Amino acid sequence: MRYAREQLIHRSERRAPIRAKRIDGKAVAEKVRSEVAADVKNWIAAGNPQPGLAVVLVGDDPASATYVRGKETATIEVGMYSETRKLPRDASQEELMEVVRELNADDRITGFLVQLPVPGHIDVDTVMHSIDPDKDVDGIHPFNMGLLLGGTPRLSPATPSGILRLLAEEGVDTSGKHVVICGRSNIVGRPLAALLLKRGEGGDATVTVCHSRTKDLGSFTRQADILVAAMGVPELITKDMVKPGAVVIDVGTVRVDDQSRERGWRLAGDMELDVRDVASLRTPVPGGVGPMTIAMLLKNVMQAARLAASGGSHQWDG
Ligand code: GUN
Repeated sequence: MRYAREQLIHRSERRAPIRAKRIDGKAVAEKVRSEVAADVKNWIAAGNPQPGLAVVLVGDDPASATYVRGKETATIEVGMYSETRKLPRDASQEELMEVVRELNADDRITGFLVQLPVPGHIDVDTVMHSIDPDKDVDGIHPFNMGLLLGGTPRLSPATPSGILRLLAEEGVDTSGKHVVICGRSNIVGRPLAALLLKRGEGGDATVTVCHSRTKDLGSFTRQADILVAAMGVPELITKDMVKPGAVVIDVGTVRVDDQSRERGWRLAGDMELDVRDVASLRTPVPGGVGPMTIAMLLKNVMQAARLAASGGSHQWDG
């Protein structure tokens, strides 16, 4: 009898496993793309020129090539003009700078980006700084980064904007939440921190940024109400590093060998799959943050079109 009673208590105390709800990034991205398509239609109907996006690809990295093809297709689907400039792996810095100058001067091109990573002999900062800030749909020109850091973003990097949109769609309020970001890149970690620090909706968070030199990463990640992994290190975040009930956002997409797949590889995120047993809400890889990047990039092209129509910034002569 006593044994049975103890068993009963034990059973009632056992916590039901949490199975995090999966955020459908593909569906949200589709919604954003249809918003942009409607915007483009109205924009052209009002007598404005067709917005255009160009992507510059240096080299033949297969993951980048796939990504660029995805951008081309999505650009055309929303009714924009699309152009891809391909340069060989050994293209010189000057050749790339010449393409940037051409795109800066081309009226058909509302915005463009240089696909990262570029080969090691290219000085990324010099190239990025030579992009016209009014056409910088990546939002990584220092002028746009400065405005973002000052709390008045103009063209914000697409991936961080996509993450905020996913949180908003899921009704996750960021105000007063502790967001821990793992990764300090210029296209994800840093701008995301700045967006989350902004006053008002989608911001007002308490932000911690961790990186490859952070000591005892788990001691930080376990404090996160919202945990964002953007280090590009496959399955770095294990389930013991996640606070029960946290919202987890996985930005990592790295190809890892997987001989059980016909193509010999699979896409791995920065979080192990088991985090779903601890978190309340999570983005999958693939199909989470990835599709949002292209959708938000297209939104930025529309934003650049509006900027151009209003005369641009005229605040930058660099
Ligand atoms: N490579 C992977 N993501 C991105 C991005 O958002 N912008 C650029 N330029 N390159 C990338």
